[in-house]
Amino acid sequence: MSSKAYPVLRWPDIGEIEERTEVLLDSPVRSLSPAAMAHYEDWFQRNCPNSQASARESAAVIPGGLQHSLPSSRPFPVQMARTSGAFAWDVDGNQYIDFIQAGGASVLGANHPVVREAVIDLLTSCAPSTCFPHEAEIQLAQFVQGSVPSVERFRMLGSGTEAVMAAIRAARAFTGAAHIVKAGGAYHGWSDQLVFGLGAPGSGRAAAGGIPDPVLSLTHEVPPNDVGALRARLSQCAADGGTAAVVLEPLGPQSGTMPVEEGYAGQVRDLCDEFGALLVFDEVVSAFRLGMAGVQGHLGVRPDLTIFGKCIAGSYPGAGGLGGRAEVMSVVTPGHTGTVALLGGTLSAGPLSSVAGLACLMEMRRTDAPAAASRAGDLLCARLTELITKFELPFLVYNLGSIVHLDTSGLFRLRRDDPDYAAQFKPRRAQNRDIATACAAEGVMISQTGRMFTCAAMTSDVIDDAVHRFEKVFAATAA
Ligand SMILES: Cc1ncc(COP(=O)(O)O)c(C=O)c1O
Repeated sequence: MSSKAYPVLRWPDIGEIEERTEVLLDSPVRSLSPAAMAHYEDWFQRNCPNSQASARESAAVIPGGLQHSLPSSRPFPVQMARTSGAFAWDVDGNQYIDFIQAGGASVLGANHPVVREAVIDLLTSCAPSTCFPHEAEIQLAQFVQGSVPSVERFRMLGSGTEAVMAAIRAARAFTGAAHIVKAGGAYHGWSDQLVFGLGAPGSGRAAAGGIPDPVLSLTHEVPPNDVGALRARLSQCAADGGTAAVVLEPLGPQSGTMPVEEGYAGQVRDLCDEFGALLVFDEVVSAFRLGMAGVQGHLGVRPDLTIFGKCIAGSYPGAGGLGGRAEVMSVVTPGHTGTVALLGGTLSAGPLSSVAGLACLMEMRRTDAPAAASRAGDLLCARLTELITKFELPFLVYNLGSIVHLDTSGLFRLRRDDPDYAAQFKPRRAQNRDIATACAAEGVMISQTGRMFTCAAMTSDVIDDAVHRFEKVFAATAA
């Protein structure tokens, strides 16, 4: 099948996902047996001596011995020496199929030669950052403007977190209102104002250590997919000076870990218009992974501002961007008369991130990489569904294109205000982690949340290979 004809995104049946989630939550937690876990942990002891030695050094200098918490770190984190396309190789020479893909940043596949060569070519004649304008910076902005219809102006920033901060500041400066509304459970980076309602809906300040109460007094969470609750919240905020922005991932919180109906974002657009709030889409993960016009292109919904990250810099550093309506973006224009929202960064929009981002996005468009990555996601999801049926497990798998969610515990669907939350959280989290550890020992790196990112380099052979490895883990779980 020609990849040009292949749809990037088929919205899953949300009702069916909710039903399956209920079944999962009502089922006893299906853990791997202690003997199976001992077998898997032993695999690391026997096969990863160099990673183990590094882990000891790391623990003495890096808090928790870790900078990233996505992959399994049990019995110790596996250190990677090399990545290419669909694969990663650790410092002991073991090969893994890499469904982490730089936290979703990599759609072409890890360390793609076209991007790498563009970067090497730049570095032979120019520093990675200069604080001068560079042609790639303009070309990248033009690319985004030409690709995502709601983006009339574009600013490059250092990370997704920075871009979220910028969006909030711009929205407040533009509207003169102060309240911010987000979906419960959603992660929008770690800036002070948005470490609120993370993980499970209803979490409020649970993860907000180090953030004073007043900083979060203007941030509110609403249950995902609930238009009535959003209307009620916007009404309350209207009585208190108004809402500057409703910030949401159009797939639903955490890349669709809590998926929303396909029509939800459009309804939120209408509510924002009614209440005079800006609609901000966080497309840090979804643009351009789920289409060169982002999920907004699929939905036909036009946000006022869009937050970019990850593949905007081609998996290189400096991966953040804010784009949107020219009128709104005027408040982040230096020298603008009227309210100016300050943002910037010494290393933001440098030649390195701009060249890498441009080379990556052009190659993605040329090769229709979002469709190829989605084809791998569809195949992986279909094959894992067969395995779940075969082993009669209560697990749930669904995908939004190249984002595949394997839910083996229901952990992310627990509600913080459920009286049973504390009792349920621990065993379900442990089960998630065990599954990720077992998968890693079988040669498949998935996130500890069960989220997997496919990439354009994942051919059907790679998916086949991955499925055989999952089969061993599922068989051990069913045993
Ligand atoms: C939806 C979303 N928004 C924002 C961020 C923060 O981006 P960064 O890690 O580049 O700061 C992330 C990171 O994973 C994300 O998934």
